[in-house]
Amino acid sequence: MSSRIAIIGSGYVGLTTGACFAHLGHEVVCADIDESKVERLSRGELPIYEPGLEKIVTDALRSGRLRFVVGAAVAAAECEFAYLCVPTPQGDDGSADLSYIEQAARQIAPVLPPNAVVVNKSTVPVGSTKVVERVLARPDVKVVSNPEFLREGSAVADFLKPDRIVIGSDDQSAAIRVASLYSGIAAPLIVTDPASAETIKYAANAFLATKISFVNAVAAICENVGADINDVVLGIGYDKRIGHDFLRPGPGWGGSCFPKDTRALVKIAEDASYDFNLLKGVIDVNDEQRERMVEKVRSAAGGSLEGVVIAAWGLTFKANTDDLRESPALAIIAALVKEGALVRAYDPQVANDLPGVEVRSDALAACEAAEVLVVLTEWDDFRLIDLDEVRRRMSGAEIVDTRNLLDRAAARRAGFVYRGVGR
Ligand SMILES: NC(=O)c1ccc[n+]([C@@H]2O[C@H](COP(=O)([O-])OP(=O)(O)OC[C@H]3O[C@@H](n4cnc5c(N)ncnc54)[C@H](O)[C@@H]3O)[C@@H](O)[C@H]2O)c1
Repeated sequence: MSSRIAIIGSGYVGLTTGACFAHLGHEVVCADIDESKVERLSRGELPIYEPGLEKIVTDALRSGRLRFVVGAAVAAAECEFAYLCVPTPQGDDGSADLSYIEQAARQIAPVLPPNAVVVNKSTVPVGSTKVVERVLARPDVKVVSNPEFLREGSAVADFLKPDRIVIGSDDQSAAIRVASLYSGIAAPLIVTDPASAETIKYAANAFLATKISFVNAVAAICENVGADINDVVLGIGYDKRIGHDFLRPGPGWGGSCFPKDTRALVKIAEDASYDFNLLKGVIDVNDEQRERMVEKVRSAAGGSLEGVVIAAWGLTFKANTDDLRESPALAIIAALVKEGALVRAYDPQVANDLPGVEVRSDALAACEAAEVLVVLTEWDDFRLIDLDEVRRRMSGAEIVDTRNLLDRAAARRAGFVYRGVGR
């Protein structure tokens, strides 16, 4: 059955959610406050890079099931469901800043049709369902938590084939109504109270961040005991209780979610009288990991970065996205620049120069006259580059591969000194 859905906030989550719901047959109106974004989206032009999204947006626009409008109230006026997909950035004390959520709720409250359901899809702290209810002040409108677990880079596939769908509500009929929106999707459905749904989202992100910090910590040990983290991960991953996923060493986690969500969970725990030392350690290991990568580049440059030309491959926080928010690559580059390095970068999804960084149009051009090459994002394109040609372009012969992405043996054959992570 087709429902009328308003999506408030057309960013990575809102746009994916809106386009996928339209793809499933619903009538969707996506709102944003950014007029130029709405204009571009209405023409089928995507302001973000997300594999597969453009096609479902253009198909849905053509079918008439997807529209873009300026302003939350315009979208919400005729909806049965209003999905809040606005940002929840980190506040000054580490907690999630709910001001966008509250503002969106205030904007839609007067226009929501009777008995509409408001759905929190943004990542919001425990208790936010109640906050939205208070702001709406509409006893006929139920508020449901329906956290999103999509990953940038595979957002469409994650939305349409999720590992699970979580719905948190104190009102059974509202939960059933939200569940019915997903009737075209085969996935385990977890219906719970709002506090549990909100906790599930933070616990999931915190656990994933923990896996990465764990493997990075073990990688640091490997370097000092002569072990190879790639083999260690292979060996532990075959244990079904552990698994191989999300156990790749690297420059540390980043992106728009993990940094703010881990800190928010530490604060949620603190407010609930629990000192989440484990998670604080996970965050510390992540900060240390970036410093460890900077130290690798420093020592590849001979101890000082002053005036050293460095080629950086990759700027986004991971491959297959254009998202630079909280990218470890940018944090590492900023530290290198601070110590006097001259950084020339290439990223398949970044065209313009960034503060202190010259962005070149291809990976080889970034290597011209560089003393050190540092690989920061795991773009597949980098694996295929001829390392002999890279060596010819560079003035030095040092590679720091923070993703263990390149073929170490091929790099050595090309005459490089290769430094990876945990090996
Ligand atoms: N990006 C992810 O991978 C991801 C995954 C799961 C959950 N989340 C969560 O989803 C939420 C949204 O994240 P995102 O990455 O999509 O953010 P985003 O910054 O890409 O998009 C948010 C959009 O909301 C718009 N907006 C803000 N206030 C508005 C208002 N009052 N009315 C209409 N539009 C408004 C902004 O202009 C922006 O386009 C956050 O809580 C985030 O933690 C994100």
